[in-house]
Amino acid sequence: MAETAQQQCIIIGITGASASGKSLIANTLYHELRAQVGDHNIGVIPEDCYYKDQSNVPMEERIKVNYDHPGSMDHELLLQHLKTLKSGKNIQLPQYDYAEHTRKSESVVFRPKRVIILEGILLLTDKRLREQMDFSIFVDTPLDICLMRRIRRDVNERGRTLDSVIAQYNKTVRPMYLQFIEPTKQYADIIVPRGGKNRVAIDILKAKISQFCE
Ligand code: C5P
Ligand code: MG
Repeated sequence: MAETAQQQCIIIGITGASASGKSLIANTLYHELRAQVGDHNIGVIPEDCYYKDQSNVPMEERIKVNYDHPGSMDHELLLQHLKTLKSGKNIQLPQYDYAEHTRKSESVVFRPKRVIILEGILLLTDKRLREQMDFSIFVDTPLDICLMRRIRRDVNERGRTLDSVIAQYNKTVRPMYLQFIEPTKQYADIIVPRGGKNRVAIDILKAKISQFCE
């Protein structure tokens, strides 16, 4: 019997602390598997694209928001988009601007894929999202390593100062990790130590994911 569109879309969640290597694992899997299984078969959706739109909120308010709390995410829209993709239809994937703390005005068309890799810090905090996933991965990188990476990245790529990164880390990033993110390790099917350069983990995940595209 032919598979329905619903059965055809496999959703894999990758979560863990900020700067733990989630995006690197997702993008490494995407680039290496795309060559093997084709662009139509695999895609990545970052949860960061689904931070709430704040284009109507003044900048002085935007910088006060706790971006590590589940309430900062538009998980309703993400859920709706996953259902749309599972039904075989395109979505308009929002694009996020970290320097402006809001969604960009333009979005990009994202077509349904056989395998969709979702990556983000708060994905497993939401039961509705967990229910959409076929399996999930927690990237378990020590927090001191994450902090070093975050400082370098936020200063070089996200328009931040060293002082602002450290202040935000103490105020929200670390406490929210301990309160909301670390407890979601219990929901993960696979725990990957050390982050994005764990070659053995990437090869095992590649073998598992490519089975879905045969
Ligand atoms: O890529 P990563 O998982 O690190 O992205 C999530 C992080 O982005 C969160 O820890 C949050 O503090 C940060 N963020 C931010 N400013 C925003 C939106 C998210 O610093 N406007
Ligand atoms: Mg990331």
